[in-house]
Amino acid sequence: MEKMWAGRFAKELDAAANDFNSSIRFDSKMFREDIRGSMAHAAMLGAKGIIPTTSSEKIIETLGEILADLEEGTLDFDMNAEDIHMFIEAELTKRIGDIGKQLHTARSRNDQVALDLKMYMKTRTDEVIALVKELMEALLMLAKEHKGVIMPGYTHLQRAQPVTFGHHMMAYAMMFSRDIVRLKNAKALMNTSPLGSCALAGTTYDTDRDMVAAELGFDGVALNSLDGVSDRDYCVELSSCFAIIMMHLSRLCEEIIMWSSWEFKFIDLDDSYSTGSSIMPQKKNPDMAELIRGKTGRVYGDLMGILTVLKGIPLAYNKDMQEDKESIFDSVETVSACLSIATPMLATMRVNKENMYRAASGGFINATDCADYLVKKGMPFRTAYKIVGQSVAMCIAEKTTLEELPLEKYKEMSELFDEDIYEAINLETCVAKRISKGGTNVASVEMQIEYIESFLKNS
Ligand code: ARG
Repeated sequence: MEKMWAGRFAKELDAAANDFNSSIRFDSKMFREDIRGSMAHAAMLGAKGIIPTTSSEKIIETLGEILADLEEGTLDFDMNAEDIHMFIEAELTKRIGDIGKQLHTARSRNDQVALDLKMYMKTRTDEVIALVKELMEALLMLAKEHKGVIMPGYTHLQRAQPVTFGHHMMAYAMMFSRDIVRLKNAKALMNTSPLGSCALAGTTYDTDRDMVAAELGFDGVALNSLDGVSDRDYCVELSSCFAIIMMHLSRLCEEIIMWSSWEFKFIDLDDSYSTGSSIMPQKKNPDMAELIRGKTGRVYGDLMGILTVLKGIPLAYNKDMQEDKESIFDSVETVSACLSIATPMLATMRVNKENMYRAASGGFINATDCADYLVKKGMPFRTAYKIVGQSVAMCIAEKTTLEELPLEKYKEMSELFDEDIYEAINLETCVAKRISKGGTNVASVEMQIEYIESFLKNS
């Protein structure tokens, strides 16, 4: 097929160079956006008298037919086309001849691709937001069902203080709520239309960029044409938002993997989200969670990739920018796939509350509460901390626990200890007493649940 730009050249492009240069195998995803953008552009050209309205109407009508044919699969992409923009324009001209050739007046592929990618990524970002919300619903469900289930809370992966499983789930809900805010902020910041920037310097035609921007759902236009065609900040920013979502998912999955091990057995993944081993008959592996953890690396790589592509390119458009698409597409597709699997995996897992409780018991997880007991009886915290440290050491030496240490032994450590120590350090008390805002006590978790529920309703 003859290139649109063949007039300037004496020879055809080498076949391998053509393949190397072509982006249609990945940018054909943006056919809807390309067509919608062209329709808005044609309408503006007609309205401003830049091309006859008979032409703009014919162009819009035919673009509609091309869109329908692509949607229905009755028209195939030409894999020899340089990109989706060239393909649609060539198809238009094939169908309506010279009228089709008027479409590219006062436009360049540089502002066209910038527009298409922004529109495409806005839609995909909304889909990611919806998927994050579904995941948050699953976390909410778990939190509500298990808001009183006591488990060990860890620091350094050492048993630290008792928390509830509901509290633990709500920690992730908070992270994902920030992810939604981040995505919405990124969407708001990218919401200017580059179309009409043309190749780089603007145009000599009396265009109406605001008309096109409004028609396509943008808040306004990119105010500098050089920036308009070469701004890919939003790819970096969305990539970064996706990387952060993956980081959150990966942390959650790491816990799922740990919790489903026989050493923990805090949860059981449903069979429909687990796999077996080809050699070890007893195995039930958390492959979904591991893959999500693994795919996090890919999404981080996409972020590094786009940052590096952009770092050295002078204004305005350079072909390097074609590399934006595979990276951001991979990133959004990976994060969407991971969210889509994480939600049902969480929703179907079973929580073994007895095992959680057992792991929280007997491991000196109530030592802070033991010290707080002495403080409330008038001892300075540092002194109490030391005494309880010695009591723990004594328990370890005598192979017992704080719950079982006899009162006489406690009394040897401090006269302030009394019969009520046992009540003060039982796990239920430890959780119930953590009434500070954001703490693990049930009322506080209920407040967190309410906050996230209203967040979901309003966002
Ligand atoms: N396929 C190109 C891209 O993705 C479209 C823009 C081409 N512009 C150009 N001046 N060669 O970036």
